Amino acid sequence: MCGIVGYCGNGNVSEFLPACLKRLDYRGYDSFGFSVLSNGDHKILKRVGKLDYFAEKIQSGNIGIAHTRWATHGKVSEKNAHPHLSCDKRIAVVHNGIIENHSSLRRALERKGHFFSSETDTEVVPHLIEAFLCEGKGFREAVTLACNHLEGNFALLILDKKSNQLCGAKNGSPLVVGLGNEGIFFASDPIGFIDYAGKAIFLGDGEIAFVKMEGNSEIEIFGFNGEKKAAKKAVKINLRRWQAEKNGFKHFMLKEIFEQPECIESCTAGRIKNSLPVLEELEGFNGKIKKTERIVIVACGTSLHAGMIAEFLIEKLWKVPVKVECASEFRYRCPVIGKNCLVVAISQSGETADTLAALREAKRRGAQTMAIVNVEGSTIARESGAAICTKAGPEIGVASTKAFTTQIAVLLLFALYGAVQRKTASKEEIKLIVLELKKVPVKMREIFEKKNKIKFIAKVNSKYSNFLFLGRGIDYFVALEGALKLKEISYVNAWGMPAAEMKHGTIALIDKNFPAVFVGASGALLEKLRGNIQEVKARSGKVISIINECDSETAKLCNEFFCIPKTHELVSPLLSIIPLQLFAYYVADEMGREIDKPRNLAKSVTVE
Ligand code: M6R
Repeated sequence: MCGIVGYCGNGNVSEFLPACLKRLDYRGYDSFGFSVLSNGDHKILKRVGKLDYFAEKIQSGNIGIAHTRWATHGKVSEKNAHPHLSCDKRIAVVHNGIIENHSSLRRALERKGHFFSSETDTEVVPHLIEAFLCEGKGFREAVTLACNHLEGNFALLILDKKSNQLCGAKNGSPLVVGLGNEGIFFASDPIGFIDYAGKAIFLGDGEIAFVKMEGNSEIEIFGFNGEKKAAKKAVKINLRRWQAEKNGFKHFMLKEIFEQPECIESCTAGRIKNSLPVLEELEGFNGKIKKTERIVIVACGTSLHAGMIAEFLIEKLWKVPVKVECASEFRYRCPVIGKNCLVVAISQSGETADTLAALREAKRRGAQTMAIVNVEGSTIARESGAAICTKAGPEIGVASTKAFTTQIAVLLLFALYGAVQRKTASKEEIKLIVLELKKVPVKMREIFEKKNKIKFIAKVNSKYSNFLFLGRGIDYFVALEGALKLKEISYVNAWGMPAAEMKHGTIALIDKNFPAVFVGASGALLEKLRGNIQEVKARSGKVISIINECDSETAKLCNEFFCIPKTHELVSPLLSIIPLQLFAYYVADEMGREIDKPRNLAKSVTVE
């Protein structure tokens, strides 16, 4: 949801800024812009479109900021692209997040004579700083006062041409400082400066880091209260450069699909001992797990589907009620949360605004909280009572794939771990499931060997404009995720629903041009599922299915089918989602879609 980068040092921004910004364009890609301080002036360049096609050279200089946008306030245009300037063109600002009180601030500033040239919420920031500068405040004080007047979530980079200073302010949206040999970097995600800085300082909310272009650039951190903070410890960045490259794959999404066996291995490494789950992150949390009377899971999108699978797993293994909620709805009801209620937030990025807001609401209501994230040190991880990292490595493709399967692996381990603590399942049963989990990477690789079959199925079906994805029991949640994958990257209409629910209305849509994709890979409720397949066939609907290799009975009923290796029902989503990810990918590729950056989407949704 917008990416921001900044640089100040001895090197040339024209080398660093475009390269850093390119690393962040998964966050938003409808337009972009730069400001470089050169000869005492802001040299601004803004363009509409994706950075992929940007071949111009930006101005040389030692200090600058840049932005890649996912539009919220104001349509996609050069005028609305960042950076935004103050009236006197002294201050340039790039921003990720939303300034919620922008309308009232804008009205007040306009009354004072400020002239706005964009429709964005961001533009109030340079004008507000300018207003404080006009009152005689210094740059640092003016920025601090401005931050105190802003409501909402923001990460800001502010460049002052008069004092030759760059600063980054954080409140709710991510902002990291990179320490490199050639200078200081700012970015929304350490991936932004992975090529140039090996250490990072993670700013906290309510902090502003100032860097001045004087000899060696140095960093000073102040709070929004104006007080200087003690120097923060820089941490080594544990990212490998190859993790941020396509490595010969046509798209990041395809690379990330094929990385899943290794991701499951790294996610489960050290978390299984003597065939039993071990979650060190939960040491000290066990008392709470034993006392838990109810679980509420909050998440969005793909992470929500992982949460639905978790509901199935935990109810079966812990025998406590579990409720899964769209995080965006949670805080606008009156959720009944007691102190023995555990609220689990699931988020790949750990920054999703809706999930974070739900987590904060749960804490406010006295719940125990836990997070499952892919980004260690992310806000959701930091603000939760305990956090488990999925260890999938950076996921760059907007469509979530390896984050989903590693979330399921962690959730399965969590469900099994809790069952051990609570003694709600036998050790034999738990060991059997763990054994099947350990076989997943090998079985995933077996599926990849048959990728041409799913590619063929995708190719012949890419002519259809509508699909139903259906399943029962745990397969239903996989169907939901399969439908989401297809719609988000191919723009084809795809719905997921319980197979038996179809007859209560949706079946009216079925005809020869409306195929149904059945997921029956868990092996549960197969007789019932076959009945639902017959219902589609009786209405001339085409049937594609994902089944397990022993299910010749279902195979006979389908126009096309793809078999996955047999496994335990509770492990099956880890395998059955793979052909659906590939199906979505190959359909979208056949249609020539921009797979890694689908229209209207962004990877990290840090606005409500
Ligand atoms: O980072 P999160 O897991 O919190 O993100 C939640 C959703 O925005 C995300 O899963 C989205 O649905 C995916 N891009 C879908 O592939």
